[in-house]
Amino acid sequence: MAAQPSDSKLDALLREDRVFSPSPAFAASANAGDPGIYARAERDPDAFWEEQAAALRWMAPYMHVLEGEVPAVRWFAGGRLNVADNCVDRHCEGPRRNKAAILWVGETGETRTITYHQLRRDVARCANALKALGVGRGDRVAIYMGVVPEAAVAMLACTRIGAPHTVVFGGFSAEALRERMADAECKVLITQDGAHRRGRVVPLLDNAAQAVRGAPSVQKVLVLRRIGDPALRAALPPGMAVDWEEAVAGASPDCPCEPMDAEDMLYILYTSGTTGKPKGIVHTTAGYLVGVSATCRLTFDLKEEDVYWCTADVGWVTGHSYVVYGPLCNGATTVMYEGAPDYPARDRHWKIIDELGVSIYYTAPTAIRTFMRWGDEEPARADLRSLRVLGSVGEPINPEAWMWYHEHVGRGRCPIVDTWWQTETGMIMITPLPGLVPTKPGSATRPFPGVQAAVVDENGAPVGAGAGGNLVLTRPWPAMTRTIFRDDERFVRQYWSRYPGCYLTGDGARVDADGYFWLMGRVDDVLNVSGHRLSTYEIESALVDHPQVAEAAVIGRFDELKGQAVAAFVTLKEASDVSGAAAAPLRDELKAHVTKKIGPIARPEDVFFTVELPKTRSGKIMRRLLRDIAEGRALGDTTTLADPAVVQRLKEQYEEGD
Ligand code: PRX
Repeated sequence: MAAQPSDSKLDALLREDRVFSPSPAFAASANAGDPGIYARAERDPDAFWEEQAAALRWMAPYMHVLEGEVPAVRWFAGGRLNVADNCVDRHCEGPRRNKAAILWVGETGETRTITYHQLRRDVARCANALKALGVGRGDRVAIYMGVVPEAAVAMLACTRIGAPHTVVFGGFSAEALRERMADAECKVLITQDGAHRRGRVVPLLDNAAQAVRGAPSVQKVLVLRRIGDPALRAALPPGMAVDWEEAVAGASPDCPCEPMDAEDMLYILYTSGTTGKPKGIVHTTAGYLVGVSATCRLTFDLKEEDVYWCTADVGWVTGHSYVVYGPLCNGATTVMYEGAPDYPARDRHWKIIDELGVSIYYTAPTAIRTFMRWGDEEPARADLRSLRVLGSVGEPINPEAWMWYHEHVGRGRCPIVDTWWQTETGMIMITPLPGLVPTKPGSATRPFPGVQAAVVDENGAPVGAGAGGNLVLTRPWPAMTRTIFRDDERFVRQYWSRYPGCYLTGDGARVDADGYFWLMGRVDDVLNVSGHRLSTYEIESALVDHPQVAEAAVIGRFDELKGQAVAAFVTLKEASDVSGAAAAPLRDELKAHVTKKIGPIARPEDVFFTVELPKTRSGKIMRRLLRDIAEGRALGDTTTLADPAVVQRLKEQYEEGD
């Protein structure tokens, strides 16, 4: 690994005042080279968003850009439009008709090019197939798939007929899928027999078959054959399975786009919070599309000839906004890659960039750190000259990784956009605009035009330059979530109550003297493991669900590659003996139990057995102290503990090794 902090050249580069100005060549050709954009948006944000809304095709004009008071705001009220019409149909009416909409690369080596014309037909057919299964406007459809073109087709088909989708990441377990489908009361589930991942098959249909048994609203399951193994087809209850090939390929390619109200629900996406079950984040039609379309175009300096690759899975918000809706709304070519970055070898991403001529590459810091570990030679061997803009998302990017990305992938000439946002924000909120905003390694720089953010203290007062505080968003933005599905009260409590009129992000941040934002991670109990958002509460609930576990406390401890790793402190019921050799099998069993309940992404890295957990006098587990222990730090303030000796003992035990 070249970029070690000990490297003196790097040290010099990493000084906080190190600023990378856009190269004149880039700045001269960049679309975003619109120096007035920030001032214009600040003077009149509504006019700025109106300008962005003009890029869409409306079926009926809106009356007002923004109305109402937060959180009950309405964007583009009265307007009518359809997302599939904007992302697909309108591009078929002009020269983009035969342009590649999706370039798909299968893990096992096949590639597919789907033009806008073909995509329109596929989407319309799928929409008709859904209608034939009884799906109508307002009915929810669950999508549990891997990164295959049909996942995008399914999403767009739902939007075409006004059926909100809820995509569930294929790495979630049957139980997680069931819980989400039951909450959203989905009528139909779209899945595939299995997904290829790192040379293995993820049994999506098996999971789906288990999940539908506890989700009574689901009437039919549309199954795409990706693997083609008949053994993967058995499990669904009789009469439920509908074969994608038969239902979709046989359907008519004509299906009108439903005129949707600006504020009609577009989709629900579940995400983890600090307490309770996953939250069904609701996004609505017009504001979301205006927001993702504008941010995708300006943040990545998207141009007609770009080949744009966002490596996210469609199961996450990044996949929704920046694999599917953002690029397609702009008529871009979006790359979808099905598999793992190291399958069959560690140069897979670089080969894809080379072979497809990818010009915009958007990935997560955890991937960048993994590439760093794999060595400089991998990207060095590849031809990466097609690249022009690099993006980062999902967690704070450490300056070392930023510099490595800059030097070894961007070869010193591609601007890096570090984009901060969330499932709830729907769109990128803090990011540089390439060609316009000088960057500093590790900083997401400044709010997107039309977005207003601040860092405030406990009382809501802005903190001074360089001081840490809570990141809040002080003005509504078009792609903001409108509510938590069927839980308006939780929505208001969670996001809008702490500071009146402001949206609470849950992230800590500071702003430097130049007005640049530096994100510092979550300030609540939400974990970020490899850019995946997980809740301590859900993992703890999964552990406590095991018959031998009495109590569990989960924390994210620092991990060089993943950002955070899940560490669990567990107390057992009295009868359990886990001394010595008995500990290892139980540890494995608990890890497997979490995998079963939530999915492999939540599997704890460490499970530590203890007789007691450190608690405050009111009985609240002090996770902060557990983090100190797991990261080998001196213990923080222990004065509020019911029994400070507990944590001291725990620390000693932990250091001795279980
Ligand atoms: O903590 C922030 C972190 O990811 C959280 C949002 O997670 P999720 O809703 O799953 O969406 C991830 C993709 C948008 C945020 O609260 N996060 C995301 N991007 C960044 C980030 N932290 C720092 N820098 C970023 N660029």
